[in-house]
Amino acid sequence: MANLAVLASGNGSNFEALVKAARAAGHVAVLLICDRPGAFVLERSARLGVPSVLVSYASGNRSGRNGDRARLDGDRVRRDGDIAARRLAAEMEITTALESAGADLVALAGFMRLLSPIFVTRWRGRLINIHPSLLPAYPGTDAIRRAWEAGESTLGVTVHYVDEGMDTGPVLARAEVGRQDRLEATEQAIHETEHSLYSRVAVELLDALDSEAVSR
Ligand code: GRF
Repeated sequence: MANLAVLASGNGSNFEALVKAARAAGHVAVLLICDRPGAFVLERSARLGVPSVLVSYASGNRSGRNGDRARLDGDRVRRDGDIAARRLAAEMEITTALESAGADLVALAGFMRLLSPIFVTRWRGRLINIHPSLLPAYPGTDAIRRAWEAGESTLGVTVHYVDEGMDTGPVLARAEVGRQDRLEATEQAIHETEHSLYSRVAVELLDALDSEAVSR
């Protein structure tokens, strides 16, 4: 038995698929971390009985202040510093929650934040992500629509370890999805493939972590 934690920001269909697959394989979904109050994934976690922690990246907003150029530049520098400091604080909160929950594997599932190198280093080899394209093609947001509008006949899904880059870590698995007539149908086919591919890879990793712990 190994412990799965998930970081998600939105709908949470991958979160739900992961929780069900992990449980069916005898593992435990120990924690959901969410950064968006009101995200539907929080309702899913309550329904599935997975403990959740809502982490805030927010603070006071300095934008929109009037002033001269030097003052605005100073505001920008302070704002950038604030963003970095807030990210660091939020990530420390996340790591503390993951450690308290005993997370063995951490899966990003539509978590809309870039993670710092410090966080990535702390969880390297145990931090995975799903991306709705055949990486390295179409990293970043809106990948399905961009691939579809580019006329790709084969789209797909990639599960990879997370490194310091944007959707760049070592690939664990890929699955191709054929283009459908409509974008919406293509999106649906991709999401269905995501759920099965991500569940399979996560369970394989949880099984491996479990065997490592037993043999130690
Ligand atoms: C998925 O398409 C995933 O690949 C991407 O964000 C989306 C999350 O969907 N990283 P959901 O919240 O799991 O339904």
